[in-house]
Amino acid sequence: MAATILVTGGAGYVGSHTVIELLNSGYEVVVVDNLVNACQGKDGQPEALKRVEKITGKKVKFYNVDLLKLDELDKVFSAHPISLVMHFAALKAVGESVSLPLAYYKNNVSGSIILLEVMKSHGVKKLVYSSSATVYGTPQSLPLTEDHPTGQGCTNPYGKSKYFVEEILKDLVISDKEWSVVSLRYFNPVGAHKSGHIGEDPSGIPNNLMPYISQVAVGRRPSLSVYGSDYETPDGTGVRDYIHIEDLALGHIAAAKLLLSSLSGQFKVYNLGTGRGNSVLEVIKAFEEASGRKIPYTICPRRPGDIAASYADASLANKELGWTAAKTLHDMCADTWRWQSQNPHGFSSSEH
Ligand code: NAD
Ligand code: WQD
Repeated sequence: MAATILVTGGAGYVGSHTVIELLNSGYEVVVVDNLVNACQGKDGQPEALKRVEKITGKKVKFYNVDLLKLDELDKVFSAHPISLVMHFAALKAVGESVSLPLAYYKNNVSGSIILLEVMKSHGVKKLVYSSSATVYGTPQSLPLTEDHPTGQGCTNPYGKSKYFVEEILKDLVISDKEWSVVSLRYFNPVGAHKSGHIGEDPSGIPNNLMPYISQVAVGRRPSLSVYGSDYETPDGTGVRDYIHIEDLALGHIAAAKLLLSSLSGQFKVYNLGTGRGNSVLEVIKAFEEASGRKIPYTICPRRPGDIAASYADASLANKELGWTAAKTLHDMCADTWRWQSQNPHGFSSSEH
C-alpha cells in the first residue's frame, strides 16, 4: 500500500505544488491547513487543492485545522496511517514578523512543537521541514554551504523562528534515535505549476520580487520599486538564487524517499537552490522577455535588512538526494506569467 504523507500548510504556495508531486509519485496525501494564508472556496475547500485534484485526477483529504489545536490535530493522526510529515505551515512575512513577534513565534515555533508532540504520541517520527536560507543570516562566504553558521545575524523573528525550529529538531533527534528529520533550506522559490492553474497568490501588496513583477506585468500595479542599486554586485542590485517551485517540490519527494528508505536517527540539512545568482535587473529583463510586457521600475533606497547577495552550493542535495534543479530563470518567468495572466487576481479570479 502507498505510504500516507501528512502535509501541514498544504493549501499554501510551496505545499500545494509539493502535493501535486506527492500524488504523481503515488503517495496518499492528507493536508492540514487553517487557511490563514490560503484562499477558501464557497464549499470550504481550499481553492488551490481543488485545482490540484483537477491537475492530478487524484483526491486529497483536507482538514481545516490549526496546528496550535492539539486535540484536533490528534484526531487527524488517529484517522490515517501516517508514515511521514511534511511541515510547511508557518507565517512567512518578514516585515510583519518584526511588528508581531509573539504571533510569529507562537505560530511557527509553538505550532511546530505541538505537531512534534502529536507525531510522537502516534509513533510518527519522520519529518521533512521547510527551512530557509534566511537561517544563514549575512553570508560570510558564497556560495552558501550547509555548514555555514546559522542563527547569527538573523535580523527578524520570522528568520529566527526557522532557526529555532531547526535547533529543536536537532535536539529531538539526539534524544531519540527513532526520529529522522530532513530540513530543506529553500533559497528563493518562484514560478508556478506548468499548467498555469496554481501559483503564488499573495494577499495585499506582494513582499517578494517575482509576484510584484508579475502584478506589474498584468496591470495591477503601475511600477516596481528596485530596492537599491549600490550593492557590491555586478549591476549594483541584489542577487538571489531563484529556484522554480516545481524543482523545489521535487526536492521534497527526494527527501521523503530518503527518509522512508534508509535514513534513521539523523538530522540532515540540504540547500535547495540552483547554485546560480541573478540580480533584480536580470529578473526584470527575463520577465519582460518571457511575458512580452514592459516592466516599468524606479530605483529606490535599499530595503532594511536586505543583503547584497545570496546563492546556494546545492551539491550536497545532488550527491545525497540525487536531486538537482533543472529549470531556468526563463522557465520561472514564463510559468509565473502563465499563472498570473490566466488568473490576474489569483485564486479568486475565475472558476476552473
Ligand atoms: P504559504 O503562506 O503560501 O503557505 C503556508 C500555509 O500554512 C498557508 O496555507 C497557511 O494557511 C498555513 N498555515 C500557517 N499557519 C498555520 C497553522 N498554525 N496551522 C495550520 N496551517 C497554517 O507559504 P509558502 O511560501 O508556501 O511557505 C511554506 C513554508 O516554506 C513556510 O514554512 C515558509 O517559512 C517556508 N519558506 C518559504 C519560502 C518562500 O519564499 N515562499 C522560502 C523559504 C522557506
Ligand atoms: C529579492 C530581491 C530585494 C521586492 C525573502 C525572505 C526570505 C525567504 C524568501 C522565506 C532583493 C529585491 C524585492 C521588490 C526589489 N522567505 N526586491 N523590489 O528578500 O531574498 O527573501 O523571501 O523564508 O526569508 O526574506 O526575497 O523576493 O523579497 O527579494 O527590488 O519589490 O529583490 O531587495 O534583492 P528575499 P525578495
